Amino acid sequence: MHGRVKLKPVADINILGIETSCDETAASVVRSGEEIVSNVVFSQIAMHQPYGGVVPELASREHLRAIVPVVRKALWDAGHTYQSVDALAVTQGPGLAGALMVGISYAKALAFALEKPLISVNHIEGHIHAVLLEERRKGNHELNFPILALVVSGGHTHLYLAEQRDGRWSYENIGHTRDDAAGEAFDKVAKLLALGYPGGPIIDRLSKHGDSTAVKFALPHLKNRDRKDTSPVSSTGRPRFDFSYSGIKTAVLRYVETHNMQGTIQERREALGKIQKPSLEDYLSLCDQPVLDLVASFQRTMVEDLITKTLAAAREYNVKTLFVSGGVAANSELRQEFEQEAAKEGLPAYFPSRPLSTDNAAMIAVAAYPKFCSKDFAEAGFSAEAGLVLR
Ligand code: KG4
Ligand code: ZN
Repeated sequence: MHGRVKLKPVADINILGIETSCDETAASVVRSGEEIVSNVVFSQIAMHQPYGGVVPELASREHLRAIVPVVRKALWDAGHTYQSVDALAVTQGPGLAGALMVGISYAKALAFALEKPLISVNHIEGHIHAVLLEERRKGNHELNFPILALVVSGGHTHLYLAEQRDGRWSYENIGHTRDDAAGEAFDKVAKLLALGYPGGPIIDRLSKHGDSTAVKFALPHLKNRDRKDTSPVSSTGRPRFDFSYSGIKTAVLRYVETHNMQGTIQERREALGKIQKPSLEDYLSLCDQPVLDLVASFQRTMVEDLITKTLAAAREYNVKTLFVSGGVAANSELRQEFEQEAAKEGLPAYFPSRPLSTDNAAMIAVAAYPKFCSKDFAEAGFSAEAGLVLR
């Protein structure tokens, strides 16, 4: 459907959302797809930090530990009981299979015991609906379609055309990363430079202190067919807009080696290892100007590439609205530049608030709301799908 569409809630429905796809155990109650009644996120970041990334087995174990108290707190904060919510929603995928299984098993058992409907949600659809939630909270109930959504996180860098017809949403992927996700590149570069995990937030903060023109990185223009894909074009026969971020990580590594930065990196690793919760000042005192310039240049390159490709896709597909969501959408330079560059083309660019950009369960409850309205409930036998595709 093209044109302006009203997104008014149809009833007073409270959905309990549950999200366990990666390293956050989250539960939230959202009313009628527009009001967050409670939103609890238990982050495992501290536990995975020493490993410089998420360890799947540890993630599943922590979800098992956290799921019951997190759901209880979400209900308590909302002033709800297990019985008083109208439906349950849970992330089916994509994500870590073992981690997803914890949320799914718990949600299935709860829905069965309570005799409530259960809705399965694609995590990426959740990220897209986080933007809708934000707009509804601001009182913006009308959107111009088609929407182009950039979902950019630690696990994903995807471009989706999103449409809504008779309350049902459908999606068409017109671009994805061929190797690393953008957030993964932030995390790997931070690990390489001994800046801790996750890398995005600290690179974001440090970049403000560096010269983003100091180091020139070139990202590939992907004109050729992706060998993993069966088609070089989308199902509409028009071009794809793919990303690739494994090269820039190697380029940063090469820069570190050719500029003899290993010594200062090792010193920083040791010094940060002794500080329990390093502050920005701690980081700044342990980062010399060359490393600040390097992170600022890296971030600038990432931001420019994400914006250039998204806007090229927006022109090609003649979209009316841009959504940017996922953990990397919390990046301050990305948000600022996106809004500016999209405005030059007359395109509104919408982001979720920072807490709704990263993984949370409110976005799952919101994405479940139109499914609830159209009685699109989960099959009894549904299970975790680590590589679940969004359509
Ligand atoms: O959406 P999310 O919480 O989990 C996934 O679904 O992956 O995204 C986490 C990712 C991590 O890679 C993290 O480094 C990145 O989002 N991230 C950021 C920022 N905050 C989080 N990247 C750049 N700038 C930020 N401010
Ligand atoms: Zn996510």
